[in-house]
Amino acid sequence: MIEGGRRLEGVVAPPGAKNAALPIMAACLLCESEVILHRVPRITDVDVMAAILESLGARVREQPGGTLIIDASSVNSHTAPYALVSKLNASFDVTGALLGRFGLAEVPRPGGCILGPRAVDMHLHGFESLGARVDLEHGSVIVSAPALRGARIALAKPSVGATKNVLLASVRARGTTTIENAAREPEVTDLGDFLNALGARVSGHGGPTITVEGVAKLHACEYTIIPDRLVAGTYLLAGAITSGDVTVTGVDPVMAASLCEHLTATGCEVSAQGVSIRARGARKWKPVNVRTAPYPGFPTDLQPPFVAYLALASGSSTVEETIFDARFVYVGELLRMGADITVTGRTARVTGVAKLKDAVVVAPDIRAGGSLVLAALAAEGTTEIGGLEYIDRGYEFLEERLAALGARVVRASGVTPIMTQPDIGSTMKLPRVVAPFRSQSP
Ligand code: UD1
Repeated sequence: MIEGGRRLEGVVAPPGAKNAALPIMAACLLCESEVILHRVPRITDVDVMAAILESLGARVREQPGGTLIIDASSVNSHTAPYALVSKLNASFDVTGALLGRFGLAEVPRPGGCILGPRAVDMHLHGFESLGARVDLEHGSVIVSAPALRGARIALAKPSVGATKNVLLASVRARGTTTIENAAREPEVTDLGDFLNALGARVSGHGGPTITVEGVAKLHACEYTIIPDRLVAGTYLLAGAITSGDVTVTGVDPVMAASLCEHLTATGCEVSAQGVSIRARGARKWKPVNVRTAPYPGFPTDLQPPFVAYLALASGSSTVEETIFDARFVYVGELLRMGADITVTGRTARVTGVAKLKDAVVVAPDIRAGGSLVLAALAAEGTTEIGGLEYIDRGYEFLEERLAALGARVVRASGVTPIMTQPDIGSTMKLPRVVAPFRSQSP
């Protein structure tokens, strides 16, 4: 429950990047020695990935402050359980890692999600190019190879998932692999850096062509995951949409360049110093057209949060989604808060309104949750947001961090309808019913 209309102000340090942490955890399967990971975000997706690794026989220990110690020396299964894998698409990353380590993996094929079907054709084509045989049995992908050998793999498009999976499978293959048209997202770069810390020989990651010289064995390492640029972007937008003043620390501004450029074009004052980015929101802001694109383009994951911001601009913006088929599903919830948005296919026309108003809304996916939170922060009245299980998948200690910036936000469950709760202050004392990832403070 968020009481809107308060100006957010202050400094916030985003947690580690979810989209780097998940493949890096999967990559631990490639290694027979213990790996220590720092800045692992305390989100439920990490819990699920940890449970998948444990189900395969790995030992995962947690230390306070976002450190995980993963020992995959005892992995004794190549079959990932459907009950866990079906909870997040990124769990398909274990396929490349298991294939790379054992020459065999059996992983349920991702079905789809609210964003649309999650195709894996490029992942599978990559595995085949490395010499693996791919079968689909009872809904699971079975990949097997007596010996993987390096190959030249040109991706039809720069898929983040396919790049990560092929990279994982090739690290211990014999010979040289090149991945052309590779995804350049910073989380892919982080995965490459992590693999090198393990003793792999990966180069060119961060660019369109990645080269992997296969190595026979990997060794122990200690590694710190990059901060989450997508969470950082959500906080910058929280500053902008409340006409506030928010600084995110620890994030390389280059990683958030496209968001910062678009924010600046609306009249928000954005400045960067070292690894800090500051957004000072305008009282009124201008519309701007947005087109999502692979990195370094505007991130599809920030499209829903940015649409919430544009919903209050002085004029109309066009937002084109080029990555996912169905990433405007959440728009209906914004309409219930008074937004004026028309979606045609993959394009949304967002006409700014003078104000958004409270409503009971439900987040249909992680970043849509971010969008609804932003809308609620700026809206009149107290908005009740459901679907917290999605928000908890991607945002660590969101309400605590927002509260530290001056938001009035409380996590509640089973509360009476919002209309009978005009004073959110009284609900601030409600017990926290849905616990975050484990039970540590931020
Ligand atoms: C990752 C991110 C997600 C982000 C997305 C794009 C993780 C855990 N998730 O998702 O947050 O929004 O990158 O930056 O890192 N596709 C195919 N065939 C394939 C693979 C993908 O057609 O073999 C399509 C997908 O259906 C989708 C598009 O390509 O429409 C992008 O997918 P991809 O870049 O692979 O994204 P994900 O790895 O799923």
